[in-house]
Amino acid sequence: MARARSVYVCSQCGYESAKWNGRCPDCGEWNTFEESVPAVSAASGGKGKPRSARDLSELIVGIGSVDASHDEVRYSTGLSELDRVLGGGLVKGSLVLLGGEPGIGKSTMLLQICQYLGDDHTILYVSGEESARQIKLRANRLGVDTENLYLLAENDCEAICDTVVKEKPEIVIIDSIQTMSIQGLSSVTGSVSQVRECTNLFMRTAKSEEIPFFIVGHVNKDGAIAGPKVMEHIVDAVLYFEGQRNLSYRILRAVKNRFGSTNEIGVFEMRDRGLEQVENPSQLLLAGRPTDVSGCCVACIMEGSRPILAEVQALVSKSGFSSPRRTADGFDYNRMYLIIAVLEKRLGFFFGGLDVYINVVGGMKLDEPAADLSIALALYSSLRDKLVDEKTIAFGEIGLGGELRAISYSEQRVKEAERMGFERCILPAQSLKGIDTSRIGIKLIGVRSLRQAFDALDK
Ligand code: TYD
Ligand code: MG
Repeated sequence: MARARSVYVCSQCGYESAKWNGRCPDCGEWNTFEESVPAVSAASGGKGKPRSARDLSELIVGIGSVDASHDEVRYSTGLSELDRVLGGGLVKGSLVLLGGEPGIGKSTMLLQICQYLGDDHTILYVSGEESARQIKLRANRLGVDTENLYLLAENDCEAICDTVVKEKPEIVIIDSIQTMSIQGLSSVTGSVSQVRECTNLFMRTAKSEEIPFFIVGHVNKDGAIAGPKVMEHIVDAVLYFEGQRNLSYRILRAVKNRFGSTNEIGVFEMRDRGLEQVENPSQLLLAGRPTDVSGCCVACIMEGSRPILAEVQALVSKSGFSSPRRTADGFDYNRMYLIIAVLEKRLGFFFGGLDVYINVVGGMKLDEPAADLSIALALYSSLRDKLVDEKTIAFGEIGLGGELRAISYSEQRVKEAERMGFERCILPAQSLKGIDTSRIGIKLIGVRSLRQAFDALDK
């Protein structure tokens, strides 16, 4: 059989190239390329031979005759935040990748859900990282003592799949894909080829046996092992567990989901007895907010179907450098420049010679235009050293003419602000149309331009 031409694959993002590169042209990481030899399929028959085609005509079905009378079977995991991100629970026969940096809490979360899932289902927890005893000790700490949880410390992917077929557990957890290997492949454990082939094998097993798999994938920055990106296109759902090391809470995000929306997020807090769900993230994000300093304003962003309040801080101070420093943490850097330009051109404020720092508290990312107005108010507040009233919230998109543009979901945002005890809301006048004011208990101030928004602060 002809040896296939080898390709070089970036272990971080899965970018393929015919030659080796020092730096990945796609994700920009250094020294992440490794050789990957694709297996030649027998069907292609080597050079020059025409493929003998199978006749698939009989397999073609009209869409009307496909039986879809029942929905997918879903298992609840007992963590409603996780269920929501999954689109309503774990789908039978699906392959879910849980990615995240080492130590973020992936193993903890998967072990925790075993307690609830174990009431009705048998679970096989395969760990290539920890011994059964270590897992037991962790389970003790997390209060997981279900009879239906079976442990297996093993790295051999094929043997694991054979065992799954034989034992037929109802749910399988693989921790982690980077420790699994297929003996026949020459590349080392954790390489792109191994990760990809192991995922393919687990996928086939999940589909043929209709057993859902959770697969843990470490994200790592130095490129020593292949990241979850190389398996994203194979699996059914990709969830990323994110957080900052110095903060106790974690955000779970879906970046791909064949069985649900990818807009939802789940919020958790790491405690000494494992992860706890945060049902009220706004409260957590606003806790400890300073109310007597200028430069702070509260924004409301939509994460999927859920409005979340977050605090925006701006600091405008005299610069000691010839070209002033500008940084934005949690907000788009270029968008910050745009807002500053609008403030300069349309309202006559001057930021020349001033450093500008923007920070969104708690590691939230405001990647929605609705956050523009709160950023502008925070900048104005810091520049003029003028407080934004602590019971005031603002949202709206800013146009280049200094006008405020309507945004979606205004009613949900206003309701969340009311629930969190805010008394006034500054929003685009056009967005007022979509709100049933008879059911809203807070004062709504509709504004058409940034100028009017600044004036509204004084009212
Ligand atoms: P872990 O789930 O092992 O991370 P991952 O599998 O993503 O690599 O989480 C480990 C971290 O979580 C570790 O730093 C300790 C912390 N932790 C707690 O704070 N409380 C707990 O109850 C547990 C089990 C872990
Ligand atoms: Mg782990």
